Amino acid sequence: MTYRIAPLFCRPWTLNGISPRLIESHYEHIYGAAVRRLNALCEEIKALDPKSTRPQVIGRLHQEKAALLNATLLHELYFASLGGDGHALPHSMASAIARDFGSVVRWRDEFVALAEALSGAAGWVILTYVPRDGRLINHGAADAGASMAGGIPILALDMYEHAYALEYGPNATAYIAAFMRNIDWSAVDARYQDAVAMRPPRALAQPEFGDLPSIAPEELRERLKAGEKLQVIDVLPRHYSARAQDIVDGAVWRDPERIDEWIGSLAKDEPVVTFCVYGVHIGCQVAGTLRQAGFDARYMTGGHFAWKAIKGPVRLVE
Ligand SMILES: [Fe+2]
Repeated sequence: MTYRIAPLFCRPWTLNGISPRLIESHYEHIYGAAVRRLNALCEEIKALDPKSTRPQVIGRLHQEKAALLNATLLHELYFASLGGDGHALPHSMASAIARDFGSVVRWRDEFVALAEALSGAAGWVILTYVPRDGRLINHGAADAGASMAGGIPILALDMYEHAYALEYGPNATAYIAAFMRNIDWSAVDARYQDAVAMRPPRALAQPEFGDLPSIAPEELRERLKAGEKLQVIDVLPRHYSARAQDIVDGAVWRDPERIDEWIGSLAKDEPVVTFCVYGVHIGCQVAGTLRQAGFDARYMTGGHFAWKAIKGPVRLVE
């Protein structure tokens, strides 16, 4: 595809301490060059035969293309971040920031510190919404590798020298302060509203166990650590269990094929947690059967390997 230049997203004459001259130069010479080089690179890639070109060449061109596309997108976001008074945060934005950073002041201190860390170097400071976690994060990044996978950036500060040297020389601190007092929070809030409408990544589809209650391994670990009485049952299939070297500490192994033989030994008044190898099939089935029999049973998501991945305590199998 051919990338088109986007019009400026802010009104340069309204900015306070960032002159139209600086924005014009940035827009024409840096942003414009990124879009032009991006298009030239796309043409170059299109003209190559992927089968006969050295993989290293393809790899380098794609890496460059990704960096230029990131630079293009982030410059557009940078210009769109400017044009406000830097202070009037809409209520929804202020409460989202307070939820994820403790307070707006704390967020601001962290964002500015990240920017200061790039003074004399180069890069971006970005406020990103991550749908997977339903929360905002600050992060720094270079053009190459600026994106947070699955995240939606809603505010960006350009810390490359070309963004300020013309006006501020090497005084990055003064430039950061100027950026902060020009943030258009209404626009950031609008992008935040668009971002929260994004759904988190989909989990593995298990319609047959859709409404079965579960527990995350981290929560199980905390509850066991707190001394809560739980019946934790490892229902790894026999062939799998036979070669397992360790078992979740505090769990007992029971053969999922012989549930009728051991169900009678469970205490009715104590919650049950079951799990299998990956937490997707047998652990769910057994939890479902136990629920039908009147137990307060749930399965542990991710199973044996998720427990290992969080370094949950295990004991060796004799
Ligand atoms: Fe820039």
